Amino acid sequence: MQTRVKTASEIKAMRESGRMLATVLQVVKSQVAGGITTKQLADIAARELKVLGGTPTCLGYHGFPEVICISVNEEVVHGIPRADKFIKTGDIVSLDFGVTYRGMITDGALSVIANGTLNQKHADLVKYTEQSLLSGIAAVHDQVRTGDIGAAVEVVLKKQGYGIVRDLVGHGVGHEFHEDPNIPNYGRANTGPWLQAGMTIAIEPMATLGTHRVYLADDEWTILTQDQSWAAHFEHTVLITEDGAEILTGV
Ligand code: MF3
Ligand code: CO
Repeated sequence: MQTRVKTASEIKAMRESGRMLATVLQVVKSQVAGGITTKQLADIAARELKVLGGTPTCLGYHGFPEVICISVNEEVVHGIPRADKFIKTGDIVSLDFGVTYRGMITDGALSVIANGTLNQKHADLVKYTEQSLLSGIAAVHDQVRTGDIGAAVEVVLKKQGYGIVRDLVGHGVGHEFHEDPNIPNYGRANTGPWLQAGMTIAIEPMATLGTHRVYLADDEWTILTQDQSWAAHFEHTVLITEDGAEILTGV
């Protein structure tokens, strides 16, 4: 389904959905520490979202069995929370969450290092991956092309020499979790489909300290780097405006 220009009431619902998403992610992030399991973190996400009145979009999405994706170190995205998966100090933990509210969906993600900054390379990977997301968002305006966004993300990650994951991309979002068009994290300005004010998109760079190549684990969900290098992932749902973008999944 092609992403549509959203109505005022759809945007209102997405603002509320995005606010819930950001609030829950901040709570879960604050609980990321050595010794906790990814299942415990997922249970916190479920509980917090329930209090706020939203529904977890991931649960049951193409059969995904949990409320949130939690991916650790060489896991890039779509990790399944598990009761036997313990976080260790220094791990890069990526939390990817979706919230449905009044029929409208927002999508957001962040990475955090368990127990803070222990390894400068890992801290930089997290920092610059977030920066690349903000660079992509800064490129957004009415009549932006997907290649304009991709190029703005890519320039930040390339400068650091990171692997830029190509097999997974950003996307339109709102009525569905994934709406067309794709929003790659690389590309050339002045290429790709045009987007317009009132559309809502998810921009989501995934960067690695090694290769851009990834593979699907035997669990048929988790995406891992081929060379076991560690990865980071940041994502916001944004509303395209005349002269910029409004981040819907910020606190
Ligand atoms: N937020 C994820 C993305 O954009 C969607 C996760 S789908 C799930 O790729 F089923 F894994 F939850
Ligand atoms: Co997404």
